[in-house]
Amino acid sequence: MNIAILGSGGRESALAWAVSKSPRCKNLYILPGNGGTTKYGRNVPIELKPPFKDLIEFVKLANIDLVIVGPEEPLVYGVVDILEKEKIKVFGPSFKASRLEGSKAYLKDFLHRYSIPTAKFAIFNHPEDAFNFVEKAGRPFVVKTDGLAAGKGAIVCKTVEETLLAIKRVMVNKEFGSAGDKIVIEDILSGIEVSVFVVTDGKNYKWLAVAQDHKRVFDNDEGPNTGGMGAFAPVPFLNEQTRHIIEENIIKPTIKGMERDGAPYKGILYFGLMLTSSGPAVIEYNIRFGDPEAEAVLPLLKTDFVEIVLATLSGKLNELKIDFYPGYCNCVVLVSGGYPGNYKKGYEISGDIEDRKDSIVFHAGTIYDEGKFYTAGGRVLCVSALGSTLEEAIKKSYERVAKIQFKDMHYRRDIGQKGLNFKGGI
Ligand code: AMP
Ligand code: GLY
Repeated sequence: MNIAILGSGGRESALAWAVSKSPRCKNLYILPGNGGTTKYGRNVPIELKPPFKDLIEFVKLANIDLVIVGPEEPLVYGVVDILEKEKIKVFGPSFKASRLEGSKAYLKDFLHRYSIPTAKFAIFNHPEDAFNFVEKAGRPFVVKTDGLAAGKGAIVCKTVEETLLAIKRVMVNKEFGSAGDKIVIEDILSGIEVSVFVVTDGKNYKWLAVAQDHKRVFDNDEGPNTGGMGAFAPVPFLNEQTRHIIEENIIKPTIKGMERDGAPYKGILYFGLMLTSSGPAVIEYNIRFGDPEAEAVLPLLKTDFVEIVLATLSGKLNELKIDFYPGYCNCVVLVSGGYPGNYKKGYEISGDIEDRKDSIVFHAGTIYDEGKFYTAGGRVLCVSALGSTLEEAIKKSYERVAKIQFKDMHYRRDIGQKGLNFKGGI
């Protein structure tokens, strides 16, 4: 098959790595890709913006048999419906189903209608109403933009003043543009955060993995939120009872609810959950693989990823057995110094960045020029290593990190440690 992957981050590198190993894959294209995706296929510099004319033209010209969508933006813009109209096979949720991530107001309403556990919330269209609500309640909240804000649209506040300021930033100063025209204000949940990945064809679903992300830029979860500084999979501390509750109270009602809403969900569904003292609750859905979770989950996958995609598209996921290698994967993200604030680009990357059997260096913000790789974004490389225990995976990932250099490189030293701290199970 001729396969095209849409996107340019670490997640898309991991997808490209997995797809390039499939016996089904003849030619692989990454649109637009990054410096490192050239290791797995050909990059095609195409902008993924509606009405996706260049994409449709390329897909026809290159006789693409299958398109796999990595990031949320093209999905929320309806790329799946547009390609399907052109009779092109595409893996990802429809425009309507993508509202699960595209609109926080829809998400909260959906969770409420199907009685899926989540934080209590209120929706506001006017800043004055939101200020009054918070002042009256007299406690801090999480403030979220309704629309997409590149992963930065959720502000977890510590005080009432911070909450009021967050509303001002979003609704009055329009820091996130029109994404903040409407906001969700919700209760702060406390507990342990996990990322649950499921693949579904709209009716049947299969668990892929449970992973944990590390969102803050510094060790011990300090500093501002980022796109993700590292991840590990599987999560060793989730017990059978909690898995069962997640399945019955969250996964099944979500898939049924989407079907009832006339938007059956096909593709990867990512449940961002908080394991609270009163049980697991949904923080958010993402309509795609997590980044960097994909870089920790896909190296563990034994089953051909393309077979999973094809079974999903033909509605036959129930007939497919999905196998994983035993053991763990730990992924450490190397970022440009200053990220998630201002940072410089264009530094040469040196050291051992070859892919090996038990450790892979997935590229994110890099470019390739005349035999050399250069930094070109905030998150630069994602170093994933496999081990028979989580301890071993952590050790091997950091051994590899020690062999890689670029100017102002920053990374967290504690990726994976959270997984070691919960020996008893939750
Ligand atoms: P989101 O944009 O919904 O993905 O939220 C980004 C991050 O903010 C989440 O991964 C959580 O760490 C945090 N967060 C979001 N909502 C809540 C909440 N209700 N309580 C506590 N933390 C939250
Ligand atoms: N790892 C968080 C995300 O992909 O949104």
